[in-house]
Amino acid sequence: MKLLIRALAVLAVLTVVLAAGGYLYLISTYPNVPPAREVTLPSDPASLARGKYLAENVALCVDCHATRDWTKFAGPVDPAKRGQGGERFDRDTAGLPGSIHAPNITPFGIGDYSDGELVRAVTTGVARDGRALFPIMPYPLYGQLDESDVHAMLTYVRSLPPVEHTVPPRSLDVPLNLIVRTIPRPAAFTPRPPVTDRVAYGKYLVTAAACLDCHTPMEQGQRVPDMDFAGGMEFGHPTLGYRVRSANITPDATSGIGQWTEQQFVDKFKAFETPDPRVLTDAEQRQQTSMPWTQYGGMTREDLGAIYAYLRTVKPVLHRVDKWPDARK
Ligand code: HEC
Ligand code: HEC
Repeated sequence: MKLLIRALAVLAVLTVVLAAGGYLYLISTYPNVPPAREVTLPSDPASLARGKYLAENVALCVDCHATRDWTKFAGPVDPAKRGQGGERFDRDTAGLPGSIHAPNITPFGIGDYSDGELVRAVTTGVARDGRALFPIMPYPLYGQLDESDVHAMLTYVRSLPPVEHTVPPRSLDVPLNLIVRTIPRPAAFTPRPPVTDRVAYGKYLVTAAACLDCHTPMEQGQRVPDMDFAGGMEFGHPTLGYRVRSANITPDATSGIGQWTEQQFVDKFKAFETPDPRVLTDAEQRQQTSMPWTQYGGMTREDLGAIYAYLRTVKPVLHRVDKWPDARK
């Protein structure tokens, strides 16, 4: 009996030691990305203009790093609050086990960052202080862009006026708080394809805009295999709780956008191009959307056409999505 108790005690100690060892290993090894490099962001007007376009209308840095006005169609951003952070992602709004507020990326929030540290944060997912960022910000995709486009976006973000605004700290449930450390990866930049190669350039824009992240259903934190762009990811209205599910944007003829012409596709985005969309009625709030139509509507017709050309080439998936399950209740 004594022997058994001693054996159990040894086992218990061993378990603790192993767990502590695993924990220490995780803490000391991850996040595993190279240190920030020496970078000098460009300051010429062409880079600033390119960066503004990409950051406001394609990658939506300032839109996500803001407080969106959900009383209006598609939750536009008050220009004075651009970059100030505050948008909340949690179990209710994004199915996330924890709570993350988009941080302030005006000079008030990221003034201490060097240019190289900013590039590292946005393309590998490691903050200035070594924290692993959660990939709500699609940094695994930003790390696949042309580095000059990343630099241009950061030049624009650096030019935002400082807004004094502090957001609550992040909290992630166990074990996500540890798993998050393993997600950052070194960037793998790729050259930007020529705009004349519409399919390749469209794919590049879809990467920058992270369309796939919202338009693919997720299970247990992973994209469901063979369902790329097939829709069905669910979002909760941040104040009213009504749900919206992303649409199937594969070329499937019945459940996707296979019947849409390029003209219809481009016109749909362009119809929403306004900095100040209207306030929704209570009934219309049941068909609120997290699709950032008004921002994407600012893309050029050529760029939207390229996105359409690329989406024609993805695998069609038959998957009917009820976009607004609370609309008829
Ligand atoms: C879908 C929303 C979203 C988009 C789009 C997005 N971000 Fe983020 N970003 C976040 C969130 C959320 C965090 C914090 C993540 C965390 O703490 O785990 C973050 C973190 C950051 C940080 C680190 C800030 C800090 O306090 O240390 C920087 C810098 C940043 N983002 C810049 C950008 C830039 C530049 C872009 C556009 C190229 C961008 N973000 C696009 C949501 C977004
Ligand atoms: C933040 C999440 C999010 C992102 C990012 C996003 N979408 Fe959406 N999208 C949605 C949701 C939710 C809907 C369904 C509600 C609606 O129609 O507005 C939708 C609807 C659509 C529709 C309408 C389809 C239909 O059947 O009516 C198209 C087209 C579309 N998205 C294309 C895109 C493209 C292209 C991108 C990238 C440039 C993109 N989306 C990025 C969330 C997103």
